[in-house]
Amino acid sequence: MNILLIGGGGREHSIATALAKSVLLNKLYCSPGNAGIDDIAESVILNISGKQEVLDFCLSNKIGIVFVGPEVPLVEGLVDFLENEGIFAFGPSKIASQLEGSKSFTKKICKEYNIPTAQYKSFKELDKALQYIEDHHFPLVIKVDGLAAGKGVIIAEEKEVAISTINEMFSGKFGDAGNKVVIEEFLEGEEASFFIISDGKDFLPLTTAQDHKRIGEMDVGPNTGGMGAYSPAPIMDKNLCDETVEKIIKPTLLAMKNLGSPYKGVLYAGLMITKDGPKLIEYNVRFGDPECQVIIPRLCNDLLELIIQVKNQNLCDVTLKWDPNFAITVVMSSEGYPGYYENGYEIIGLENASKLNNVEIFHAGTKKNKNKIVTNGGRVLNINGYGKTLIMAKDNAMQAVELINWTGCYYRKDIGWRALEKKRDE
Ligand code: AMP
Ligand code: GLY
Repeated sequence: MNILLIGGGGREHSIATALAKSVLLNKLYCSPGNAGIDDIAESVILNISGKQEVLDFCLSNKIGIVFVGPEVPLVEGLVDFLENEGIFAFGPSKIASQLEGSKSFTKKICKEYNIPTAQYKSFKELDKALQYIEDHHFPLVIKVDGLAAGKGVIIAEEKEVAISTINEMFSGKFGDAGNKVVIEEFLEGEEASFFIISDGKDFLPLTTAQDHKRIGEMDVGPNTGGMGAYSPAPIMDKNLCDETVEKIIKPTLLAMKNLGSPYKGVLYAGLMITKDGPKLIEYNVRFGDPECQVIIPRLCNDLLELIIQVKNQNLCDVTLKWDPNFAITVVMSSEGYPGYYENGYEIIGLENASKLNNVEIFHAGTKKNKNKIVTNGGRVLNINGYGKTLIMAKDNAMQAVELINWTGCYYRKDIGWRALEKKRDE
């Protein structure tokens, strides 16, 4: 079967790597791809928002499945468009993608279906939002309603910050995404990510992961797309997973069915594990990046076969198998990210690093320039380490990280610190 994979990050490199191993694969295309994906798939440049261009490509290249990696085309309704034309696309419909595309949509569902989440209120008017913070305790969490590439959430410790944040969000800085603003209670606890895969009829929990969203060590500084991750996440024991499925996942899937848009694809619940149990922080309607890079390599099933089982609504017959070893990924990024950064620096040491045992490298913002590989994004590389224990996996990853360099390369040395600290306490 021919597959078109949409995206060009580390997530898509890990997905492409798994798809390329399948005996069911005939040809893999990826748009836009990156320097790593180029080695296993044919990169094509398509205007993804111009859905017709994607459709035309699918028809002329006999594409059997389109795998949509990132959220924007999902929220724009690419899946609905392709499926109306008879091409199966792995990912949720436009309506179901609102679980990520609109925070107030998700909050309303949480309220209706009694799903544990932070108390909140949403606002369309600046004055009312400003009024609301007058009689609430800080910290408060202030979010633009729509997609903002991870930059639309501010934790305001004090009133002055809240006022300037709300003003900024309503000023149009985030475009239409900021037409509505959600203000919610600050939840205390440890974060974890929980993933399921659904075929619209049945679903299977995937494994757990934890990512590190902040740029700085010990999880300080601005939010990023994610600076590293590991799987499994020891904090998510069986009881917590079961509780998450019962209280959060099942009611959400029921809500989507009741809306006439049964959920198909990967659903990623961002959780806060509070003293009262797991609470939903947000939904993403796709694999996380970089969580995917530690989840997919642990999946023993054939990924393409699994996607075909979703297409055929056969998940009820599937048993997922996971490699019990730990996987960790360290993101190497460009100096300045998540703010301004420069591209085009030659990456040194990739070949030697990739020869190490129990190491795998997924490219994100990279491209080929003559016979060199150069930086081409904020998050540049994901260096994976595997091992029986998390510390072994981490040591493997760090050995590889230390062999790689470019002008202005940055990475966090403390990925996995929460789980490693817990282990030390036991
Ligand atoms: P979101 O885009 O909604 O996932 O928010 C990004 C990050 O902000 C989350 O991963 C959390 O670290 C933090 N965050 C969001 N909402 C809350 C909340 N209600 N309480 C505490 N932290 C939050
Ligand atoms: N790692 C967070 C995300 O993919 O949204």
